[in-house]
Amino acid sequence: MKYLIKTYGCQMNVHESEKLAGILEDMKYTPCEKEEEADIILFNTCAIRESAEQKIYAHIGELKKLKKENKNLIIAICGCMSQQKNYPENILKKFPFVDIIFGTHNIAEFKTFIEKRKATKKKVVDITEVENIIKRDTMPKKRTSGVNAWVNIMYGCNNFCTYCIVPYVRGREISRPLEDVVSEVEELLKQGYKQITLLGQNVNSYGNDLNDENCTFAKLLQKLDSLNYDFWLTFMTSHPKDISTEVIDTIASSKHIFHYLHLPVQSGSTQILKLMNRRYTREAYLEKIKYAKSKIPDIEFSSDIIVGFPTETEEDFLDTVSLVQEVGYAQLFTFIYSKRRGTVAEKLDGQVDLATKKERLRRLIDSQSKKATEIAEKYIGKTVDVLVTDIHPKKKGFLLGSTFTNKNINFAGDSSLIGQFVKVKVLSSKLTVLTGEIVKE
Ligand code: 5AD
Ligand code: SF4
Repeated sequence: MKYLIKTYGCQMNVHESEKLAGILEDMKYTPCEKEEEADIILFNTCAIRESAEQKIYAHIGELKKLKKENKNLIIAICGCMSQQKNYPENILKKFPFVDIIFGTHNIAEFKTFIEKRKATKKKVVDITEVENIIKRDTMPKKRTSGVNAWVNIMYGCNNFCTYCIVPYVRGREISRPLEDVVSEVEELLKQGYKQITLLGQNVNSYGNDLNDENCTFAKLLQKLDSLNYDFWLTFMTSHPKDISTEVIDTIASSKHIFHYLHLPVQSGSTQILKLMNRRYTREAYLEKIKYAKSKIPDIEFSSDIIVGFPTETEEDFLDTVSLVQEVGYAQLFTFIYSKRRGTVAEKLDGQVDLATKKERLRRLIDSQSKKATEIAEKYIGKTVDVLVTDIHPKKKGFLLGSTFTNKNINFAGDSSLIGQFVKVKVLSSKLTVLTGEIVKE
């Protein structure tokens, strides 16, 4: 019996697919690459923007023929798209050949859903919001991310940024007990993982629901940093309103935590930030960046930006461009605002037309690529610590790695080095990617 999982969206989904693969492998399914070979095809979906949904719908639609040819094929859909109100009904109307639909709260039940479908031949739909995080976290995991392992520290989001669907499809914040996270990380380090990425929609509010002053994100980081292994630690995503000076100080004094912060600003205009319900101003954001730079001089930042939020004027947009230049992000993830059903921003007047949104996006990307190129060029001539992560997919004899500031770097070397820390002298850069050569210590 073979399975194929198609994952869309963020790292949270990537990691959840590792858990779903773990369940399938426990049931003696083995992975395959081609849809025609699969006995079960699972779509782990994303609902963040309309474009993501359309892409997924097109992919599901393509399976109609396959299902006709192979009546035993099971097609399942889970993730953020299926969790939305009335979506299971809509999906089944559009794609009556789908067998199983379940939501973001029910992934631990995947095995039961498959068994039910096989036994009854009836459609299985379950998007009830039951939180059983202990059950969730003891799930087997089929990790696929090489030397890096993802670890959930919390689920859900309480922030309700007005453009965002996540709080509606992922529910309220629930933190895992600190001891559970620490023991999972320690186990992974024992197994030989060299990088740990902590995951949560808003990692800085870790522990708010645990009512224990020892369970804060800074304390969790400190505890993990004290583990006596050779490893690097990073996390995502941080909310600028919640990241504390204690967290920044912890990074500064740590041994293992990346000198890199993904701190999504979304807009450089205080007025737009207000409408987005982000609960910080342009100035407050820049203040946090300044503090981090003062404590960690070689720190790199990345960010998410939305262009064309309702009422965004040319002036608001230029505020974003100037903020991006001022911070100097190593990497920027840029998005065109997409109206999401049920969110507050859906009802706002002043929706920006698509041509303007596209034009702003292009200008933002242009100004960012110049900046990112300059940032990368600063590394030339320096020798940096690198974790070797993979072989280069295109350049024969070359390896891929990451610096402690989360920059991608490639260099010649033998694949036996994968998973090791090496020193690399940077020789050149192209856009954001560095090329170098290993130096012997
Ligand atoms: N439209 C466009 N981008 C969005 N994001 C979240 N919701 C929307 C939306 N409705 C972006 C934000 C967030 C990232 C994961 O996706 O920038 O940080
Ligand atoms: Fe969405 Fe805002 Fe929560 Fe991030 S913090 S998941 S953007 S609501």
